[in-house]
Amino acid sequence: MEALARRYLNDALTNEKVGNIHEAAKYYRKAAEILMLIANNYPSDPLAKMYRELADSYMRKAKELERSEIIPVSSGPTKDMSESDIVEEFIVKEKPRVRFEDIIGLDEAKQAIIDSIVYPSKRPDLFPLGWPRGILLYGPPGCGKTMLAAAVANEVDGVFMHIDAANIMSKWLGEAEKRVAMIFRYAYRVSEEQGKPVIIFIDEADALLGVYEHEIGGEARVRNQFLKEMDGLNSKSAKHLVYVIAATNKPWKLDIGFLRRFQRRIYVPPPNRDARRALFEYYTRYIRVAPDVDFDLLADRTEGYSASDIRDVVMEAHLITIRELFKSGNIYGEPRPVTMNDFLYVISRRRPSISRELLKLYEEWSQRFGGTL
Ligand SMILES: Nc1ncnc2c1ncn2[C@@H]1O[C@H](COP(=O)(O)OP(=O)(O)OP(=O)(O)O)[C@@H](O)[C@H]1O
Ligand SMILES: [Mg+2]
Repeated sequence: MEALARRYLNDALTNEKVGNIHEAAKYYRKAAEILMLIANNYPSDPLAKMYRELADSYMRKAKELERSEIIPVSSGPTKDMSESDIVEEFIVKEKPRVRFEDIIGLDEAKQAIIDSIVYPSKRPDLFPLGWPRGILLYGPPGCGKTMLAAAVANEVDGVFMHIDAANIMSKWLGEAEKRVAMIFRYAYRVSEEQGKPVIIFIDEADALLGVYEHEIGGEARVRNQFLKEMDGLNSKSAKHLVYVIAATNKPWKLDIGFLRRFQRRIYVPPPNRDARRALFEYYTRYIRVAPDVDFDLLADRTEGYSASDIRDVVMEAHLITIRELFKSGNIYGEPRPVTMNDFLYVISRRRPSISRELLKLYEEWSQRFGGTL
């Protein structure tokens, strides 16, 4: 069952990547339906909640895609984006539920974010010399960049605008730079009128900027517009509360012009041994584990695994026990506890997603351009 859901998800992602929006939406729906089915059939299962949440998010994604498929036809590509479109598309109304406590490890990155955003927005009077407005989060995939940005939204009482750079570039084609300008204008106004911080979060920022070689025409303009906006942001003498957080797992794609405008650069590293141990504990908190499970050993065996890899390992190990339960025919029983062997088996079959070479690239980049850590 889960395998089927995963296959649909893969199909959805592949189709989305190549721009088959219609097909992608269809597969997101299918994946969501399967997960819902599992969740509803086994409501007491500890994974049921996660499945339901995943199903919700795939369904939302499907709807979003279906909407985006319709918009260009109905409103025409030349129509300007109105303010309500901005609100509709970018403002995150329901705050993400992730909090700093849910983010394991990353103490330095968390503190750096708190120093540069949370404190100044709560007590601007304590920062007579100003504070950074452009903050770059960089590091390997699946280690918490997007999570950190989401947690900021929760921590700061303000407006959170989530902008997916890859999405902007593909969807808006010739209009992206106009929309970039509008987003910033809107951010200043809201922050001024409401006296609240506005955080513009640009996920996958490299997509916005790092594509010179394959330039089709739009990228340089978008990049220039963006840099111009960043200059405005940094030079405003007024104590406005507009921030830009950009996240990327390919910092080397960013050029020096871009980097100069992000004074604060925060490395979000892969989990160290302690963090890996804590991640195993965190992700097994609703799962029964056998007494033989040795979290220290699991941490030792998972060097190079990202936080998201570790979450997947736990889910897969747990799935072994669920699968057994179903195969035994006793579908309303409880699965047996997950044993050390289950974990080791899953780990043995799964490569870590962060290789030494990749890690070296981040470290070298940090040495040259890394910010304040
Ligand atoms: N530090 C962490 N603590 C707990 N869970 C984590 C952590 N980092 C990542 N995860 C898990 O992995 C998932 C992916 O993390 P996230 O989206 O923040 O990664 P990312 O660094 O933004 O990766 P990418 O570069 O691919 O965008 C999260 O939804 C969460 O389930
Ligand atoms: Mg991310």
